[in-house]
Amino acid sequence: MKGIILAGGSGTRLNPLTRVTSKQLLPIYDKPMIYYPLQTLLTAGITDILIIVAPDHAGDFLKLLGSGKEFGCKFTYEIQDKPEGLAQAFLIGENFIGDDNVTLVLGDNIFAQEFGEEIKSFKSGGRVFAKQVPDSFRFGVVEFDENQKALSIEEKPEHPKSDYAVTGLYIYDNSVVAKAKSLTPSARGEIEITDINNLYLKEGTLDVAFVKGEWFDTGTFESLHSAIEFARKRALV
Ligand code: G1P
Repeated sequence: MKGIILAGGSGTRLNPLTRVTSKQLLPIYDKPMIYYPLQTLLTAGITDILIIVAPDHAGDFLKLLGSGKEFGCKFTYEIQDKPEGLAQAFLIGENFIGDDNVTLVLGDNIFAQEFGEEIKSFKSGGRVFAKQVPDSFRFGVVEFDENQKALSIEEKPEHPKSDYAVTGLYIYDNSVVAKAKSLTPSARGEIEITDINNLYLKEGTLDVAFVKGEWFDTGTFESLHSAIEFARKRALV
């Protein structure tokens, strides 16, 4: 299993915090944000990790994270020239992924849970993790039937069919690369991870599990603040 951390994007919603640095380098209490998704991969036993960054602050990521030796792993770096969708990670990462399965974690997602079991038990298809939230319209939203079987996933719907958001940790088999290649950009000009998930769903190979414990996507000032509060409490216990 290979790992990818996607830390591209321009973080415009957090302006002016992101004017001179990258969102994923902002402090979450006592560590830079990207340490948290990195920890998620490391605690799951993934040690071969591709870090995808935007061109502007690429040098800062390299300076912060280095070769990976300090963390007991190996880092490879790639540039995402333009923020043209999360699914681009699998095109940029095609050579890195090779013939392996891959876990993608978003550089701005913070999970309380560890995913060792979920990743070790993965065989094929796709596995994503949903979480009940009050503002699901901000995310990919899963629609379930009465048996909690996933029926559809919609990206940032105006009228969400549930309050279950798809969080930013995705486990896929090697067919994800071919699936990413088959996508066309959405109305917002991005190739969407939600479209990948729907391809797996159509095949009948998407497992939608649930996140245990807290989860933060730090895309807004409010959620950034909540994540910092969470990290502070956890560090102080
Ligand atoms: C992205 C995905 C969305 C997912 C979210 C999780 O949204 O497009 O489906 O629910 O990450 O953090 P973005 O952070 O790009 O707005």
